[in-house]
Amino acid sequence: MEKHEIAVVTGANKGLGFETCRQLKEAGMHVILTGRDEERVRNAAQRLHTGSSDVSWAVLDVQDTASISMFAEELRGKWGKIDVLVNNAGVSVIGRFDEPSAELTIDTNFFGPLRVTDALLPFMSKGSRIVMVSSGMGQLSCLSNELRRRFESPDLTRDELTGLMREFVRSVGDGTYSRKGWPSSAYSVSKAGLNMLTRLLSKELAPGGIMVNSVHPGWVRTDMGGPSAPRDIVAGAKSIVWAALLQSKGPSGGFFHDGKPMQW
Ligand SMILES: NC(=O)c1ccc[n+]([C@@H]2O[C@H](COP(=O)([O-])OP(=O)(O)OC[C@H]3O[C@@H](n4cnc5c(N)ncnc54)[C@H](OP(=O)(O)O)[C@@H]3O)[C@@H](O)[C@H]2O)c1
Repeated sequence: MEKHEIAVVTGANKGLGFETCRQLKEAGMHVILTGRDEERVRNAAQRLHTGSSDVSWAVLDVQDTASISMFAEELRGKWGKIDVLVNNAGVSVIGRFDEPSAELTIDTNFFGPLRVTDALLPFMSKGSRIVMVSSGMGQLSCLSNELRRRFESPDLTRDELTGLMREFVRSVGDGTYSRKGWPSSAYSVSKAGLNMLTRLLSKELAPGGIMVNSVHPGWVRTDMGGPSAPRDIVAGAKSIVWAALLQSKGPSGGFFHDGKPMQW
């Protein structure tokens, strides 16, 4: 690895994001932990800090465009470039399925990575890697055949994909989602959309040599995964770190679990 590679991880104050930072630092990268709450992310960075200058932190709320712009400005002033972006921040609302919870889930898990990636692209160059932390729950088999055809279309545009995400939220609001072929899981739809965003961005960014991949970390014991999950956090984050450490000419536009391809 080139010396002084810089990685930005969203939602890094705990869970898979924090462990991903620990492993990237161990691999020799400078890691910038980001999180929406200043105190939580500062404390997390302190837990990782070992006296050397390889750990930084910053406030970044993936739902808040002003927060994203402020972070981009900070990045410009302090570091100037990034080699890795891990879009890890995510939510899963348990026990509720209504328009506000669908909106929160789609906005955080799908539009969050889209906003952050667009804002940080100017700091990336040939060989940079973008990792979308996705989920097996976002496999396209959760959708009706008709929706699946629209998601999978090789001609799918950004506008069509963002339109599909908004269509889902509206259909939850007016109660037509099931009739229209959507599942009763906003989390699944958000990650299916994120996976299609990976495909789209990988095509857009291929000429510039930037790699974009989705990763399923497995069902992992975190606050989100719960205590019964079979996987420990070290193994889950390793799956993410694999995609973050890809060398130039590595795969792009794929969906991986432990370095092995998965079906969309
Ligand atoms: N655990 C699993 O079994 C599993 C399986 C498949 C995929 N994943 C994915 O892995 C990623 C990490 O999940 P995890 O298991 O580590 O969950 P977690 O422990 O609940 O951590 C989620 C992280 O996302 C942050 N976050 C949420 N909304 C945010 C926002 N608007 N802006 C910035 N940060 C925000 C949280 O910050 P706060 O502390 O401020 O809330 C927290 O740092 C997620 O994308 C999740 O969907 C997890």
